Amino acid sequence: MVNITSDNRSEDNEYIYSSYKYKENICVDENEKISVTQKQTDILFKTQKKVKRTGVMIVGLGGNNGVTFTGGIIANRCCMEWDTRRGSKKANYHGSITQSSCIQLGNDKKGKNVYTPFKSIVPMLDPNNIVVGGWDISNMPLNKAMKRSMVFEPGLIDLLYEKMDLTPLPGVYYPGFIAKNQDERANNILSGKSKMEHMNIIRKNIRDFKKDNELEYVIVLWSANTEKMVDINPFVHINPSDLLSSIHVNSPYISPSMIYAVASMLEGCVFLNGSPQNTIVPAIARMASDNNTFVGGSDFKSGQTKIKSMLSDYYISTGVKVEYVVSYNHLGNNDGLNLSSDKQFKSKEISKSGVLTDSMNSNPILYKDDCIDQCVVIKYVEKTKDTKIAIDEWLSSIFMGGEQRLVTYTTCEDSLLAVPIMYDMIILTELLSRITYDDSKDNGFVNFPSILSLLSYCFKAPLGENVCNILHKQIKDMSDLLLILNGIDKSDIMLSTHIKSSL
Ligand SMILES: NC(=O)c1ccc[n+]([C@@H]2O[C@H](COP(=O)([O-])OP(=O)(O)OC[C@H]3O[C@@H](n4cnc5c(N)ncnc54)[C@H](O)[C@@H]3O)[C@@H](O)[C@H]2O)c1
Repeated sequence: MVNITSDNRSEDNEYIYSSYKYKENICVDENEKISVTQKQTDILFKTQKKVKRTGVMIVGLGGNNGVTFTGGIIANRCCMEWDTRRGSKKANYHGSITQSSCIQLGNDKKGKNVYTPFKSIVPMLDPNNIVVGGWDISNMPLNKAMKRSMVFEPGLIDLLYEKMDLTPLPGVYYPGFIAKNQDERANNILSGKSKMEHMNIIRKNIRDFKKDNELEYVIVLWSANTEKMVDINPFVHINPSDLLSSIHVNSPYISPSMIYAVASMLEGCVFLNGSPQNTIVPAIARMASDNNTFVGGSDFKSGQTKIKSMLSDYYISTGVKVEYVVSYNHLGNNDGLNLSSDKQFKSKEISKSGVLTDSMNSNPILYKDDCIDQCVVIKYVEKTKDTKIAIDEWLSSIFMGGEQRLVTYTTCEDSLLAVPIMYDMIILTELLSRITYDDSKDNGFVNFPSILSLLSYCFKAPLGENVCNILHKQIKDMSDLLLILNGIDKSDIMLSTHIKSSL
């Protein structure tokens, strides 16, 4: 941990305290004339220093992400090394912002920027200590599923094989929510006839997992197949009591993912949704707040979407008008097979297409009465396996009626991009659960709102009010918070660079 001394920071054995002057710019737009008033609020942050013993229960544990997630932790824990035809490789956490990125802390006496690992600013969960469990509707043990996934190199699979001889718990399966082509895989299904019975079994699984592993904190993470979107029904999905009654009467409006989410809420656990479907309906968000827990989602923001939210910002924030983006993918894993079905593809298309909205909204000069034309194509090509090919074509209007065309071609194992983000969302959620703040509004110390908008970096279609999809802002929000928790104001770091250099 870095040693931080600031007038705004103090600590005792249990907590780090930091006082922060929050200066909010309140803008009023009257007939296109904007006026800004600054409002200052004193906030006291309190961060518990002791990291909780945390477990994650993955829904879809035997899937490509589930086995890669589990194998990645074991490989790092055991410092594994293996040979490939490109030489010897070692376990690492590349691609995880919490484990492998740095934040500028300030400048040295000569004005040179000083960086520190993201994880060295406040105490954070070590991914090697995450306890893993979960469910899958397929009974294939994790070691065989790891081989089937074709994500890891054979040398690593050999090292992990014995250590991954685990079978996932039976899962909730209601045909019709995921593609018909998944039927064959569904051989590990919960007994019990009613949705209420299923939810109670899931609740018991969570309790047992917590007790057996002596855990203080459990996060349930949906990494199962993409489900079709559910039509929001005002008599089912808005109020928690209606939702519970609907589970009781086996309503067809209740999806498997909702059963896991409601069970998590009732057990006071976090539920994170790594797929695009609209599981976290208003009633589930309300249950999160009523049960003093968190929800977050939706859809892991891994490869193509991350690049899209970065490139759109690059163009639009530099005054270049993107006219269209066409995103084409082909992949041959089970996710691709599931997405080859229309209803499940629709869920993915919606979450992928929303990514550019914030960039467009940020520039009314370019997008006053216009928007970017977007098209998303996903094709299943079995022999590609987990290697996803993503090709994007961008057409932009540049200076004096010119046109710029950019084509990106990306290829890599899909799960090797998604899994580091899964670690991040768990590590950040555990951290956020240890932070409370007092904003001088007579409520005392309170938790962050139950919809974790600070996880927006991890998701394609982030939940929460006023969340933003622009990648650099999402990263900045998180890194600024870490500094604020230690009494450092990030704007001081910016000014210290520019004022000093101009003196
Ligand atoms: N890998 C990525 O880069 C990436 C990026 C964004 C989103 N996602 C989403 O993550 C999810 C998982 O991806 P994957 O590649 O691991 O898929 P996968 O098909 O390999 O794994 C999904 C697993 O979920 C299981 N499953 C399905 N329904 C279940 C249920 N109701 N209960 C328990 N288990 C169930 C399946 O048997 C399967 O083993 C997909 O929805 C995908 O769209 C993946």
